[in-house]
Amino acid sequence: MTPRTTDWWRHAAIYQVYPRSFADGNGDGIGDLAGVRSRLDYLQHLGIEAIWFSPWYLTPMADAGYDVTDFRRIDPRFGTLAEAEKLISEAHERDIRIIVDVVPNHVSNEHAWFTAALNAEPGSPERELFWFREGRGDDGELPPNAWQSIFGGSAWTRVPDGQWYLHLFAPEQPDLNWRNPLVRAEYEDILRFWFDRGVDGIRVDSAAMCSKDPDLPDYDHSVFPDPHPYVDLDENHDIYRGWRAVADSYSEPRALIGEVWLADPDRFAQYLRADELHSAFNFDFLGCSWDPTALRTVIDQTLAAHVGVGAPSTWVLSNHDVTRHVTRYGRPDTSTAAGIRQYNPVVDEDLGRRRARAAALLTMALPGAVYIYQGEELGLPEVEDIPAHRRDDPIYHRTNGEDPGRDGCRVPLPWNGTTEPYGFSPDGAASPWLPQPATWARLTAAAQDADPHSMLTLYRQALARRAAEPALGDGPMQWLDYAPDVLAFTRGESFTCIVNLSATPVQLPDDAQVLVTSQPLSQGVLPVDTSVWLRTA
Ligand code: NOJ
Ligand code: CA
Repeated sequence: MTPRTTDWWRHAAIYQVYPRSFADGNGDGIGDLAGVRSRLDYLQHLGIEAIWFSPWYLTPMADAGYDVTDFRRIDPRFGTLAEAEKLISEAHERDIRIIVDVVPNHVSNEHAWFTAALNAEPGSPERELFWFREGRGDDGELPPNAWQSIFGGSAWTRVPDGQWYLHLFAPEQPDLNWRNPLVRAEYEDILRFWFDRGVDGIRVDSAAMCSKDPDLPDYDHSVFPDPHPYVDLDENHDIYRGWRAVADSYSEPRALIGEVWLADPDRFAQYLRADELHSAFNFDFLGCSWDPTALRTVIDQTLAAHVGVGAPSTWVLSNHDVTRHVTRYGRPDTSTAAGIRQYNPVVDEDLGRRRARAAALLTMALPGAVYIYQGEELGLPEVEDIPAHRRDDPIYHRTNGEDPGRDGCRVPLPWNGTTEPYGFSPDGAASPWLPQPATWARLTAAAQDADPHSMLTLYRQALARRAAEPALGDGPMQWLDYAPDVLAFTRGESFTCIVNLSATPVQLPDDAQVLVTSQPLSQGVLPVDTSVWLRTA
């Protein structure tokens, strides 16, 4: 891979920072930009090539910052615009690209547009920026349709004059009307605002949901309708063509990365056509069970879907919305058939971590870009015992705890020390905004730093090798028929990755040189749930 090329997004290792939980510089128990700036050396040493920041904008935090009041201001909890600009240039000095999160489907209910809409009449241009409708029933006392919020409960909230507004997520996140040209113009301007400040890419939140069927028709929630009234409408593509034109207008073109959750790989790939988004997260891979056949199928489908549009694949194991994969892989059933978040009565964390190590090498060897969610390089598990009164996620509260929500993967990172806050905040600071487990002393970055067998060391070794290996990142791969229930493939002339998902150890080729391995090897044997990178003749 060649660093500092304009197509960095085709192969980069991209690290997701969830600013609230990364590092707290000022001691209020909440992560912030000062904290990130103080840890840039750590990220550089880790070997990542870009950082994606979950939202850092002004927000009332009804959905942890995915409810944005003003995209041109940094939330004071996180810092200032001047600090963000410094962070961008300090990252660039280290050859690290910056991706920021843009949320087009909705804004905060405190956004100036929404407060103006509330103060304006039904039918006013201000209300036309959102989805205001009259209710059903004799007095309009019933919501306009039966749509359910993705976070639980109705997707509609009534305002004092009797109208209702649509929110696919929390009531504090009113949906924008993308048929309105002002919405389109505003977002293209927001992109320019950040691109002009040196930002290299945008992560597009809920990218397939922006457009709605203006009739807002009811549908049966028990089956996925085709067409769906708000998932994957054709009009979305026009939005991203406009964004692509903005991104391409820079001398060093900016990248657009979509959060596109769609079951149909061909519909997914349409977002990645040459004049739309550059790439999108691979949620099929993220949700795949630890099973050789299932993994191989997902990998093949991914590659097949991308090749037709010329876009690079991405490989993702965790993010701020799903149960951390150390925990998922430690369950008796590693499939996510019951949902990407579940309560886990039985988790074998050692098994989960062993598989996570193997999965890291698999992921980093596959063609395309790879995403690393903060803390996965430390092997953090999901925190499943957060007391109800400390939980923050609206999903937990709006489903009355039926869905555990996402707090368990958002617990502040442990940096050093043996007790909370584990260096997340300076000494004497307020408690972290979510409690950290008493068992995390051995998982701190400091505890793992010099340990040759730690997850952190494995990530550093693998990322360094990946960057140095011309055949890794973007480009072709070739499956090998190696042994039953073993995934093996080559990249280029002399690189091989082997992942043992079978129940028995397998012999490695005897003329191979071991580059990186997820577990110690003895006598040329690859243990169960272990991956190895080899230099082959
Ligand atoms: C997807 C984001 O990843 C998630 O955290 C957020 O709650 C929803 N979109 C709504 O913005
Ligand atoms: Ca802070």
